[in-house]
Amino acid sequence: MNRRTFLVGTSVGAALAQAQNAPAVPPRRVYSLNRNWLFQARLTPGADAPAFNDAGFQRVTLPHTNVELPWHSFDDKAYEFVSVYRRHFRAPASWSGKRVFVDFGGVMTAAKVSINGHAFEEYRGGYTNFSFELTPHLKTGADNVLAVVVDSTERPDIPPFGGSIDYLTFGGIYRDVELRVVPQTHLANVFAKPVRVMSNDRALVVRCYLEGPVSKPTTITAELHDGDRPGRSATATVNSEADHHDVIIENISDVALWDLQHPKLYQVTVRLDNGDTYTTRTGFREARFTEKGFYLNGQHVKLRGLNRHQTYPYTGGAMPARVQARDAFVLRKDLHCNIVRTSHYPQSPAFLDACDELGLLVLEEIPGWQHIGENSWQDLAVDNVGRMVRRDWNHPSIVLWGTRINESADNHPFYTRTNEVAHSLDDSRQTGGIRNRYDSELIEDVFTMNDFGFPLRPPNHPAYLNTEFNGHMFSTKRFDNVEHIAEHVTRHARVHDQLASDDRYAGGIAWCAFDYASHKYFGSGDRICYHGVSDIFRLPKPAAGFYKSQCEPEEEVVIEPGFYYAWGDKAGGNGPGVVPICSNCDHLKIYYAGKLLMEADPDRKTWPHLKYAPFTVSLTRLSFGNWGDLMIEGYINGKLVGSRTLSGSGTDDRLVVKPDDAELDGDGRDATRVVLAVTDSGGNLRPFASAAIQLSLTGPGEIVGENPFSLSGGAGAVWVKAKEAAGTIRLEARHQYLAKQTVEIQVRRVERELV
Ligand code: GAL
Repeated sequence: MNRRTFLVGTSVGAALAQAQNAPAVPPRRVYSLNRNWLFQARLTPGADAPAFNDAGFQRVTLPHTNVELPWHSFDDKAYEFVSVYRRHFRAPASWSGKRVFVDFGGVMTAAKVSINGHAFEEYRGGYTNFSFELTPHLKTGADNVLAVVVDSTERPDIPPFGGSIDYLTFGGIYRDVELRVVPQTHLANVFAKPVRVMSNDRALVVRCYLEGPVSKPTTITAELHDGDRPGRSATATVNSEADHHDVIIENISDVALWDLQHPKLYQVTVRLDNGDTYTTRTGFREARFTEKGFYLNGQHVKLRGLNRHQTYPYTGGAMPARVQARDAFVLRKDLHCNIVRTSHYPQSPAFLDACDELGLLVLEEIPGWQHIGENSWQDLAVDNVGRMVRRDWNHPSIVLWGTRINESADNHPFYTRTNEVAHSLDDSRQTGGIRNRYDSELIEDVFTMNDFGFPLRPPNHPAYLNTEFNGHMFSTKRFDNVEHIAEHVTRHARVHDQLASDDRYAGGIAWCAFDYASHKYFGSGDRICYHGVSDIFRLPKPAAGFYKSQCEPEEEVVIEPGFYYAWGDKAGGNGPGVVPICSNCDHLKIYYAGKLLMEADPDRKTWPHLKYAPFTVSLTRLSFGNWGDLMIEGYINGKLVGSRTLSGSGTDDRLVVKPDDAELDGDGRDATRVVLAVTDSGGNLRPFASAAIQLSLTGPGEIVGENPFSLSGGAGAVWVKAKEAAGTIRLEARHQYLAKQTVEIQVRRVERELV
């Protein structure tokens, strides 16, 4: 979807006054169309007709899920139904002579859109954006009715369906909708492509896709700028309706490169001489997968990452930008990953924006899972490649396009087509296609392979990336016993150790970041795949500590026990056993019940290739007579840099209630996660705490989630969503035995929309 050029921030009255005083209406306006939708969960006949009486419909904001669900143990049939959304709006006189489009970010899974009774062809596909031109069907100054019939069933004619899939798709208009009002001839899309990034004559090829007649010479101006600072520009005059026109900003010497630590972004503004303006962002970086691994700006980077599903508890995919962006933050800043795979489909633009801003590399792929349908299904998949690339080509974080259906059989003609579409639209990025067959045909540039065995297979192609390991091979809950927990940590460490042993491995993206909801034929019997290093609430299990520990200590000193501290959870008792501690310190001192128990160095024997090898410590034969706290001190170059105390008391000490954000926008859709947890006195999660937390909320917000909420593995979360009002939200959380906690979230006033 087009990046916004105008934020809608004035009231209707102010806008009218502005229209009367200033005849110069901006050539392009983009209106957010996320509020004031009317929703009926089960479609009744005629409910999309303009005159239908929708007084009984529910008023909703987008992103919207067609049904709120528990976080686990529900049937996918609960959201597999056909619903209808209606949006009334007035088309002001200032739109006359303009063209008006409606842009949908994502509707799960098929959408029949109509405007004032005129129906467009059904759009099939829940993960890709689509637009319709409304212009000839609009009524100026009168009520217009946009209706969307949303089919959220698993339609075998639409990827990823037709076979079985290991995830849930949920339902509803779950991404943003915009109304775009533009001149007859306008910029439909812009690809700002940096070229020759590593040389002194680097340039930005600004590829402009015009829509509408070009009957006279038209000047296109492209400007590269850094925030408000005036930048460099170039112009081209065009007089043909070619597919696209390139405006090239040459000799760009004075830009900072986009890299993992300093993900510098620039703005690109493109103007037509009729005033139409399109803005986007770009970053200058060179990303290459080679026979010696992955190189970013000429520097070798071993890729270490996790797969991400876009789904959340309670609302499926329907979470606003702030929540989407938070996942990128968790991956980059908490777990210190350098790459994420958007398994198994294009994900929210807000998530990708955050990846750009945080320096998190991305492998993005088309929707699909093992199954390839017949010809028209394949045509949709080919079309999905084009939509993914055209939507996301300006994200410097994206370094690889995935052009295959995840883990599907080879299909030469089909994958020749998908690969060609990606290359023809974007010759600056390599392609991959995720397979689970080692002998699969390589059509793309990078052999991207799910290798769940250990030891891993050796790379069999010059550019080789492991795109999945672990996952279902060792499903793990935070409340599993200590042997299981420690083994989960070890399994992640050992794969990354092998990946680090050989430069031909570009690196690895483990299965997976977060636990996720799935079908009954997958998962642990409650329809959850506990494959994450973090749970479905994005809260870490000990294996997350391994990822976290691989950063430089300058970024964060990490001491993460790969076990739970208990005398008797391990078979036979006597303490946690021989267990890993993940840390980027070079030496540890461990104190047991106040006395120095041992000193330890990184276990380079077990993990010879990792820069920050976990420590293996033998916490056995701990006498229960002396049982007390365990204190771990971390040292670097002989200096104490951090410590961690694990309480031996066996008691739940504190209730923690922590919102991710202190402020929200009062737009009826903004939301933040509120973490609920019980910890020991040292702040460590109590993995077997399962108390019900009773929540009550006052102020302009609502709780999205279960209330009371029963902790799972000592923690969990609800989300708090702002209403369309300003004020202070107070959320009180009560635990039957621990001191209650109250948190406040301020809600800012947001001006109403114009339409
Ligand atoms: C893979 C698949 C993933 C997930 C994973 C579980 O085969 O690509 O989507 O199902 O297994 O480990």
